[in-house]
Amino acid sequence: MSGWLDEVYSAEGDTTRLKELYDEWAGAYDEHLTRIGYLSPSVLAAMVGQEIPRGDEAVLDAGVGTGLLGAMLHPAGYANLVGIDLSEGMLAMAEARNTYRELRRMTLGERLDFPDDHFAGAVSCGVFTGGHAPAEGFEEIVRVVRPGGHFVATITDEHLPGGSFGEKMASLEHRGGWRHVRTSERFVALPGADEDFAHLSQVYVFEITASGAANG
Ligand SMILES: C[S@@+](CC[C@H](N)C(=O)[O-])C[C@H]1O[C@@H](n2cnc3c(N)ncnc32)[C@H](O)[C@@H]1O
Repeated sequence: MSGWLDEVYSAEGDTTRLKELYDEWAGAYDEHLTRIGYLSPSVLAAMVGQEIPRGDEAVLDAGVGTGLLGAMLHPAGYANLVGIDLSEGMLAMAEARNTYRELRRMTLGERLDFPDDHFAGAVSCGVFTGGHAPAEGFEEIVRVVRPGGHFVATITDEHLPGGSFGEKMASLEHRGGWRHVRTSERFVALPGADEDFAHLSQVYVFEITASGAANG
Protein backbone atom coordinates (compact mmCIF):
# COMPACT_ATOMS: atom_id res chain seq x y z
CA MET A 1 0.00 0.00 0.00
CA SER A 2 2.80 2.40 0.95
CA GLY A 3 4.26 1.24 -2.35
CA TRP A 4 1.41 2.91 -4.24
CA LEU A 5 1.72 6.10 -2.21
CA ASP A 6 5.47 6.08 -2.82
CA GLU A 7 4.96 5.72 -6.53
CA VAL A 8 2.29 8.36 -7.01
CA TYR A 9 4.02 10.94 -4.82
CA SER A 10 7.28 10.46 -6.68
CA ALA A 11 5.75 10.79 -10.15
CA GLU A 12 6.85 14.45 -10.01
CA GLY A 13 3.92 15.70 -12.05
CA ASP A 14 4.70 13.34 -14.96
CA THR A 15 1.09 13.01 -16.07
CA THR A 16 1.70 9.97 -18.29
CA ARG A 17 3.27 8.07 -15.41
CA LEU A 18 0.68 9.29 -12.93
CA LYS A 19 -2.16 8.22 -15.21
CA GLU A 20 -0.67 4.71 -15.57
CA LEU A 21 -0.21 4.38 -11.82
CA TYR A 22 -3.73 5.52 -10.96
CA ASP A 23 -5.21 3.33 -13.72
CA GLU A 24 -3.55 0.35 -12.05
CA TRP A 25 -4.34 1.38 -8.50
CA ALA A 26 -8.00 2.30 -9.16
CA GLY A 27 -9.58 -1.06 -8.22
CA ALA A 28 -7.90 -1.19 -4.79
CA TYR A 29 -7.71 2.57 -4.06
CA ASP A 30 -10.85 2.88 -1.90
CA GLU A 31 -9.95 -0.11 0.25
CA HIS A 32 -6.35 1.08 0.75
CA LEU A 33 -7.32 4.64 1.58
CA THR A 34 -10.09 3.54 3.93
CA ARG A 35 -7.65 1.28 5.76
CA ILE A 36 -5.33 4.22 6.53
CA GLY A 37 -8.16 6.50 7.58
CA TYR A 38 -8.02 8.98 4.67
CA LEU A 39 -9.54 12.05 6.26
CA SER A 40 -9.53 14.72 3.56
CA PRO A 41 -12.88 13.98 1.85
CA SER A 42 -14.72 14.24 5.19
CA VAL A 43 -13.08 17.52 6.22
CA LEU A 44 -13.57 18.93 2.75
CA ALA A 45 -17.23 17.83 2.52
CA ALA A 46 -17.98 19.55 5.83
CA MET A 47 -16.50 22.79 4.50
CA VAL A 48 -18.20 22.50 1.10
CA GLY A 49 -21.53 22.45 2.94
CA GLN A 50 -20.71 25.88 4.42
CA GLU A 51 -19.60 27.47 1.16
CA ILE A 52 -21.32 26.01 -1.91
CA PRO A 53 -25.13 25.96 -2.06
CA ARG A 54 -26.76 22.55 -2.51
CA GLY A 55 -29.03 22.11 -5.50
CA ASP A 56 -29.02 21.58 -9.20
CA GLU A 57 -26.25 23.93 -10.27
CA ALA A 58 -23.12 22.29 -11.65
CA VAL A 59 -20.20 21.82 -9.24
CA LEU A 60 -16.82 20.66 -10.55
CA ASP A 61 -14.85 17.94 -8.72
CA ALA A 62 -11.32 18.46 -10.05
CA GLY A 63 -9.32 15.22 -9.76
CA VAL A 64 -12.43 13.25 -8.85
CA GLY A 65 -10.58 9.93 -8.50
CA THR A 66 -12.96 7.12 -7.55
CA GLY A 67 -15.54 9.66 -6.41
CA LEU A 68 -15.11 9.46 -2.63
CA LEU A 69 -16.20 13.08 -2.33
CA GLY A 70 -19.31 12.67 -4.49
CA ALA A 71 -20.32 9.71 -2.34
CA MET A 72 -20.75 12.26 0.48
CA LEU A 73 -21.86 15.34 -1.44
CA HIS A 74 -24.51 13.72 -3.63
CA PRO A 75 -26.67 12.34 -0.82
CA ALA A 76 -26.24 15.67 0.97
CA GLY A 77 -28.03 17.42 -1.91
CA TYR A 78 -25.43 18.25 -4.57
CA ALA A 79 -27.37 16.92 -7.53
CA ASN A 80 -25.20 18.11 -10.42
CA LEU A 81 -21.63 17.01 -9.79
CA VAL A 82 -19.20 16.98 -12.71
CA GLY A 83 -15.92 15.10 -12.25
CA ILE A 84 -12.69 15.32 -14.21
CA ASP A 85 -9.55 13.23 -13.83
CA LEU A 86 -6.57 12.18 -15.93
CA SER A 87 -7.00 8.46 -15.11
CA GLU A 88 -9.66 6.51 -16.98
CA GLY A 89 -9.33 3.74 -14.37
CA MET A 90 -10.27 6.11 -11.56
CA LEU A 91 -13.07 7.65 -13.65
CA ALA A 92 -14.54 4.17 -14.23
CA MET A 93 -14.70 3.59 -10.47
CA ALA A 94 -16.39 6.97 -10.01
CA GLU A 95 -18.88 6.14 -12.77
CA ALA A 96 -19.91 2.99 -10.90
CA ARG A 97 -21.05 5.09 -7.93
CA ASN A 98 -23.76 6.80 -9.98
CA THR A 99 -23.36 10.06 -8.14
CA TYR A 100 -21.82 12.24 -10.88
CA ARG A 101 -23.90 13.74 -13.67
CA GLU A 102 -20.88 13.88 -15.94
CA LEU A 103 -17.35 12.41 -15.81
CA ARG A 104 -14.68 13.52 -18.27
CA ARG A 105 -11.01 12.84 -18.83
CA MET A 106 -9.13 16.14 -18.49
CA THR A 107 -5.80 17.25 -17.12
CA LEU A 108 -5.38 20.04 -14.60
CA GLY A 109 -2.58 22.28 -15.78
CA GLU A 110 -3.98 22.19 -19.32
CA ARG A 111 -6.99 24.07 -20.73
CA LEU A 112 -10.24 22.52 -19.48
CA ASP A 113 -12.99 21.81 -21.99
CA PHE A 114 -15.65 23.93 -20.25
CA PRO A 115 -16.89 27.45 -21.04
CA ASP A 116 -16.03 30.47 -18.90
CA ASP A 117 -18.09 30.85 -15.68
CA HIS A 118 -19.70 27.44 -16.20
CA PHE A 119 -19.73 26.15 -12.60
CA ALA A 120 -21.40 27.41 -9.43
CA GLY A 121 -18.38 26.12 -7.49
CA ALA A 122 -15.49 23.69 -7.57
CA VAL A 123 -13.93 21.23 -5.16
CA SER A 124 -10.66 19.33 -5.24
CA CYS A 125 -9.44 16.74 -2.76
CA GLY A 126 -5.93 15.28 -2.57
CA VAL A 127 -4.95 16.64 -5.98
CA PHE A 128 -3.00 19.86 -5.34
CA THR A 129 -0.24 17.97 -3.57
CA GLY A 130 3.29 16.68 -4.21
CA GLY A 131 3.80 15.12 -7.66
CA HIS A 132 0.17 15.65 -8.72
CA ALA A 133 -1.64 18.63 -10.29
CA PRO A 134 0.52 21.73 -10.80
CA ALA A 135 -0.26 25.17 -9.40
CA GLU A 136 -1.09 26.33 -12.95
CA GLY A 137 -4.23 24.20 -12.60
CA PHE A 138 -5.70 26.93 -10.40
CA GLU A 139 -5.91 29.26 -13.42
CA GLU A 140 -8.49 27.16 -15.21
CA ILE A 141 -10.52 26.65 -12.04
CA VAL A 142 -10.75 30.42 -11.77
CA ARG A 143 -11.83 30.67 -15.41
CA VAL A 144 -14.58 28.01 -15.30
CA VAL A 145 -16.14 28.97 -11.93
CA ARG A 146 -18.44 31.99 -12.09
CA PRO A 147 -17.74 35.13 -10.04
CA GLY A 148 -19.13 34.70 -6.53
CA GLY A 149 -18.67 30.91 -6.73
CA HIS A 150 -16.31 29.16 -4.32
CA PHE A 151 -13.36 26.81 -4.77
CA VAL A 152 -12.85 24.47 -1.80
CA ALA A 153 -9.67 22.39 -1.99
CA THR A 154 -7.09 20.55 0.06
CA ILE A 155 -3.60 21.91 -0.43
CA THR A 156 -0.68 20.22 1.30
CA ASP A 157 1.63 22.19 3.53
CA GLU A 158 4.89 21.18 1.94
CA HIS A 159 4.41 23.65 -0.92
CA LEU A 160 3.40 26.59 1.22
CA PRO A 161 3.94 29.46 1.58
CA GLY A 162 7.10 29.79 -0.53
CA GLY A 163 6.41 26.92 -2.94
CA SER A 164 4.61 26.94 -6.24
CA PHE A 165 1.10 26.62 -4.79
CA GLY A 166 1.70 29.51 -2.39
CA GLU A 167 3.06 31.72 -5.15
CA LYS A 168 0.17 31.02 -7.51
CA MET A 169 -2.40 31.51 -4.74
CA ALA A 170 -0.89 34.89 -3.92
CA SER A 171 -0.66 35.98 -7.55
CA LEU A 172 -4.31 35.11 -8.20
CA GLU A 173 -5.28 37.12 -5.14
CA HIS A 174 -3.13 40.05 -6.24
CA ARG A 175 -4.56 39.95 -9.78
CA GLY A 176 -8.15 39.88 -8.52
CA GLY A 177 -8.91 36.38 -9.82
CA TRP A 178 -9.95 35.05 -6.42
CA ARG A 179 -10.17 36.10 -2.77
CA HIS A 180 -9.00 33.89 0.08
CA VAL A 181 -12.00 33.33 2.38
CA ARG A 182 -10.86 30.87 5.06
CA THR A 183 -8.59 27.93 5.82
CA SER A 184 -9.28 24.86 7.95
CA GLU A 185 -7.08 23.73 10.82
CA ARG A 186 -4.09 21.63 9.77
CA PHE A 187 -4.80 17.90 9.82
CA VAL A 188 -2.98 14.69 8.97
CA ALA A 189 -4.68 13.50 5.80
CA LEU A 190 -3.47 9.90 6.01
CA PRO A 191 -3.26 9.13 9.74
CA GLY A 192 -2.67 5.40 9.33
CA ALA A 193 0.07 5.66 6.71
CA ASP A 194 3.85 5.42 7.24
CA GLU A 195 5.61 8.48 8.64
CA ASP A 196 6.82 9.42 5.16
CA PHE A 197 3.24 10.25 4.26
CA ALA A 198 2.28 12.11 7.41
CA HIS A 199 1.70 15.25 5.32
CA LEU A 200 -0.18 18.04 6.96
CA SER A 201 -3.04 19.23 4.86
CA GLN A 202 -5.47 22.10 5.01
CA VAL A 203 -8.69 22.91 3.23
CA TYR A 204 -8.65 26.32 1.57
CA VAL A 205 -11.71 28.27 0.50
CA PHE A 206 -11.49 30.91 -2.22
CA GLU A 207 -14.20 33.06 -3.74
CA ILE A 208 -13.82 33.65 -7.46
CA THR A 209 -13.90 37.39 -7.99
CA ALA A 210 -13.49 37.93 -11.74
CA SER A 211 -15.36 36.61 -14.75
CA GLY A 212 -13.70 33.81 -16.69
CA ALA A 213 -13.40 36.10 -19.69
CA ALA A 214 -11.01 38.26 -17.64
CA ASN A 215 -9.21 35.23 -16.27
CA GLY A 216 -8.79 33.24 -19.48
C1 LIG B 1 -5.02 11.10 -4.27
S1 LIG B 1 -6.13 10.93 -5.62
C2 LIG B 1 -7.55 11.84 -5.00
C3 LIG B 1 -8.82 11.40 -5.65
C4 LIG B 1 -10.09 11.89 -4.98
N1 LIG B 1 -10.24 13.33 -5.12
C5 LIG B 1 -10.05 11.51 -3.52
O1 LIG B 1 -9.96 12.40 -2.65
O2 LIG B 1 -10.08 10.30 -3.25
C6 LIG B 1 -5.49 12.06 -6.82
C7 LIG B 1 -6.29 12.06 -8.13
O3 LIG B 1 -5.86 13.16 -8.92
C8 LIG B 1 -5.74 12.75 -10.25
N2 LIG B 1 -4.77 13.67 -10.86
C9 LIG B 1 -3.47 13.82 -10.54
N3 LIG B 1 -2.92 14.80 -11.28
C10 LIG B 1 -3.92 15.26 -12.09
C11 LIG B 1 -3.99 16.27 -13.10
N4 LIG B 1 -2.92 17.01 -13.43
N5 LIG B 1 -5.16 16.45 -13.73
C12 LIG B 1 -6.26 15.71 -13.42
N6 LIG B 1 -6.24 14.74 -12.48
C13 LIG B 1 -5.10 14.53 -11.81
C14 LIG B 1 -5.27 11.30 -10.17
O4 LIG B 1 -5.53 10.60 -11.35
C15 LIG B 1 -6.08 10.81 -8.98
O5 LIG B 1 -7.33 10.28 -9.38
